[in-house]
Amino acid sequence: MKIINPNYIYIDDIFQENIAIAFSDKIEAIDSIENLKIEYPDAEIIEGDKNSVLYPGFINTHVHLEFSANKTTLKYGDFMPWLDSVIINRDDLLQECNNEMMLKACNEMLLSGVTTFGAISSFGTELEVCEKTPQKVIFFNELIGSNMAYVDALYNDFLERLTASKQSKEKGIIPAIAIHSPYSVHPVVLKRAVEIAKNENLPLSAHFLESQSEREWLENESGEFLDFFQKYFNASKPVTTISEFIESFDEVPTHFTHAVQATDEELEYIASQGHSIAHCPRSNRLLGCGRLPIEKVQSLDIPFSVATDGLSSNNSLNIFDELRSALMLHHQAPLDKLSKLLIKSITSQPAKIFGLNSGEIKVGKDADLVLINLPNRPNSLDDIALQTILHTQKVDMLFINGYSI
Ligand code: BEZ
Ligand code: FE2
Repeated sequence: MKIINPNYIYIDDIFQENIAIAFSDKIEAIDSIENLKIEYPDAEIIEGDKNSVLYPGFINTHVHLEFSANKTTLKYGDFMPWLDSVIINRDDLLQECNNEMMLKACNEMLLSGVTTFGAISSFGTELEVCEKTPQKVIFFNELIGSNMAYVDALYNDFLERLTASKQSKEKGIIPAIAIHSPYSVHPVVLKRAVEIAKNENLPLSAHFLESQSEREWLENESGEFLDFFQKYFNASKPVTTISEFIESFDEVPTHFTHAVQATDEELEYIASQGHSIAHCPRSNRLLGCGRLPIEKVQSLDIPFSVATDGLSSNNSLNIFDELRSALMLHHQAPLDKLSKLLIKSITSQPAKIFGLNSGEIKVGKDADLVLINLPNRPNSLDDIALQTILHTQKVDMLFINGYSI
């Protein structure tokens, strides 16, 4: 048993003082340090520093480890030139990306307090790294393929990867399914994959309405995607419509990534079906996709996570870099409220979305915990979310299932 005594603790979405916790692999008790010492006289005591804050471990729901080799290669600014640069450089980037590089990417997340992440896996090449990393990993096996001539082969490959990830459950892997996007997945296989997620209760995610070009292609069969599909796939029509795509997920709560270009009606539909959104502010900015209207998302009570996306569309995997960017991007939002919402978006919110037994400091939850040190005393308890986001580069202590990492 361990007892940790921080200066401040984040419980029930607020910051409190004079509270310590006792934990083994799970959180066992929450009380004053004096009471816990009496209850657990043999426990190891960990004293937090003067301005320390204890949080549940952070959850980064959306990252592409396989593209960790990119630094300056891919073209940023607009979505289609970026996608073209991905196609041109994909083989080189994938080849350069070895296990060491992917472990480094996991470690960058770890240093920023990420104890669980969602890995979107196109090829399954990061499975070994995800087994080795101390974090828990929601391993999203991605389905792709719009050309009818290849979909069966691609679907079988997806099934094989899904089976392999199921065999890694003891190594911290949570098997899951990702649908690449409305423009790149044929509805025939999309429906099969959603059915598996539904029957086996697997986490499900899909990129959705990331760019204006995607919307134009799906809605009007025109725009930059027309050139793209003619060039690479000899196709001049999309395989689905926005409404057919989204209705394929009815009754199967799905984590839609981006949704930046979704209309109010589409957001209302997402809300009505109990879906949620992964918000990747830096990726959206770098690929010229626009700003997710989180005020609308919030007014509809759509749960959302903030996530880094991969190094193919970002300059770091530090979750605090992402929160700082979100803070600046959503300049219209009251600073204090937004800061608290952002902390929720990497803790209790994603835990609820994926049914994880973490993301909250509560008796019975997994002891996934991070301790950060503020540089000075905060002005008030109410300021701690904002000051944590502004000043944290690295966490000072981290526990996963009670083990110090
Ligand atoms: C497709 O299979 O249709 C596809 C794959 C990658 C990017 C875009 C489309
Ligand atoms: Fe992504």
